[in-house]
Amino acid sequence: MLKTIRDLSTYVRRHRRAYTIGVAMMVVNAFFTTLMPIIPGTAIDALKQGTMTLPRMWLFVAALLGTAAAGGLAMIIVRRSLLAASWEIQFDVRRDLFRHFARLDSDYYDNHRVGDLMARLTADLNAVRMLVGVGAFQAINTVLLLGFTITRMARLSPGLTLLTAVIMPLISVTFFLFMRVIHRRYQRVQEQFSEVSAMAQENFDGMRVVKGFGIEDRHVATFRSLNDEYIRRYLALTRIDGPLSPLMETLFGFTLAVLLLFGGRYVLGVGGNLTIGQFSSFVFLFSGVQWPLQALGWIANIAQRGSTSWRRLREILDSRPNVVDGPETDYALTEVRGDIEFRHVSIAFDGVPALEDVSFHLRAGESLGITGRTGAGKTLIASLIARVLDPDAGEILIDGVDIERYPVAVLRRFIGLVPQEPFLFSDTIAENIAYGVPETDLEALMPRVREAARLAQLDDDVSGFPRGYRTRLGERGVTLSGGQRQRTAIARAIVRDPPVLIFDDALSAVDTQTEARILEGLEHVQRGRSTLIVAHRISAFQHCDRVLVLERGRVTEEGTHEELLERDGWYADMHRRQQLEADLEAA
Ligand SMILES: Nc1ncnc2c1ncn2[C@@H]1O[C@H](COP(=O)(O)OP(=O)(O)O)[C@@H](O)[C@H]1O
Ligand SMILES: [Mg+2]
Repeated sequence: MLKTIRDLSTYVRRHRRAYTIGVAMMVVNAFFTTLMPIIPGTAIDALKQGTMTLPRMWLFVAALLGTAAAGGLAMIIVRRSLLAASWEIQFDVRRDLFRHFARLDSDYYDNHRVGDLMARLTADLNAVRMLVGVGAFQAINTVLLLGFTITRMARLSPGLTLLTAVIMPLISVTFFLFMRVIHRRYQRVQEQFSEVSAMAQENFDGMRVVKGFGIEDRHVATFRSLNDEYIRRYLALTRIDGPLSPLMETLFGFTLAVLLLFGGRYVLGVGGNLTIGQFSSFVFLFSGVQWPLQALGWIANIAQRGSTSWRRLREILDSRPNVVDGPETDYALTEVRGDIEFRHVSIAFDGVPALEDVSFHLRAGESLGITGRTGAGKTLIASLIARVLDPDAGEILIDGVDIERYPVAVLRRFIGLVPQEPFLFSDTIAENIAYGVPETDLEALMPRVREAARLAQLDDDVSGFPRGYRTRLGERGVTLSGGQRQRTAIARAIVRDPPVLIFDDALSAVDTQTEARILEGLEHVQRGRSTLIVAHRISAFQHCDRVLVLERGRVTEEGTHEELLERDGWYADMHRRQQLEADLEAA
């Protein structure tokens, strides 16, 4: 809890002004709210002693109204400043989370379910906002109200105050114990909610698979049992929530009875002395803290929920990407020319080797092709160059310098990677291409966007769309074909003109002629650019300076396109087969 407060105070500090005003106004409010019960008490004494006149009565009425108005006005300001700040804090936390998500590597997403992350973002953020908003507000407000009330009570009658002060903690402790159980049950509800939303999310993502295999019934049944458990846990929460407020009312009734017994005796002059008006003020004051005392329990609840949620969000914020700048990072390295060398690189997953002793040298400006069966390790090589992950053994040199010495940001900027399965955002085509560059002025970028699209052979397609580059993609827009998606991703990579360009199977969904046009077009504009082409189609390698054939993580063939054909191995075999297919298609 303390850690949560410390963590969140950095966010609160940014809204210092709102919180200062809020707290100051709460003091004003507590002062007037606790003054209110005193006024009728004083009036009662004046009536009893016969000093009350009609004009004085109006004075009392005016004082009461004025006090109520002042207290109410202060509370309006409190709500405005504090609750607005709490929404902004929620916004800040959410922004930090998203920034962090963007920095995490892909294996974070392999190990965490998206539905679970979504539940955290919505439910947990809400709980944290409750904590910094309503929770903080109620906590401060309650402490102030109790403080003012007890001071005023003590001025009226120290004896009765002592008595009340003994009973009040009893109320709060009972509340607290109840809240502990409530909190535990609440957690179980939250966990189950994560399960349910993860399942729902996966179901949406995999609906086509589910339908394709005709296993809808099984999925519905699983979902129902998850949902049933959720309802069961929720009911368990309500069962303990229910008896709480009747119990509290009984406790207050009991306290009131004790007050009447002792207060009445004081008024009669037994064991102390108190006027009727003072006694009335005292009872009014005590009734005034009924809700604040209950609120204490409610706050405990909000605080616990909020801090549990914050702990879970913290877990996300604390997870570090695998590849980060470290002590070996050399910030003098600000550029990449494009000379890439692998020296005896190996990497294994759970003891199973995925790349073994891979060595090659791609000089700046040259092009290297890599081919091989699915699972041979081609994507791994591409990922290692982009430093999405690090090898277990061997060295990767960029311009002769160990890749680990480059700031990660430099590698990301100078190495353009077109992934096997591109991700397009639900934005316009222009924006999707412009994601490749840090600049944000889309209008100024349009010529570059268009040029990149032209090179990626996407321009003709886009011109055919009614809104051109302003065409929206995704759920509320058009759906691109696989080839168009790949070409959009290619345009995104080449728009910033990187000195190293990696195509990871990025031409698999375009036809051979388009592939040839893309590669030729790039050849023209990019003298001096290093290109790595991962492909299954041998035709993609015709103009490559060298080609590697990978088999189960090892380089089995290596040479120019012609040399490999002469060698008459796997490469030549693939070439023959693909030629035959092409001939058959043409026929
Ligand atoms: N993050 C990872 N965790 C575990 N295994 C991986 C990971 N990345 C790749 N592999 C394994 O390494 C091998 C090579 O994968 P990959 O490079 O994607 O092959 P491809 O040649 O089809 O691109 C595969 O057997 C794959 O299962
Ligand atoms: Mg691959």
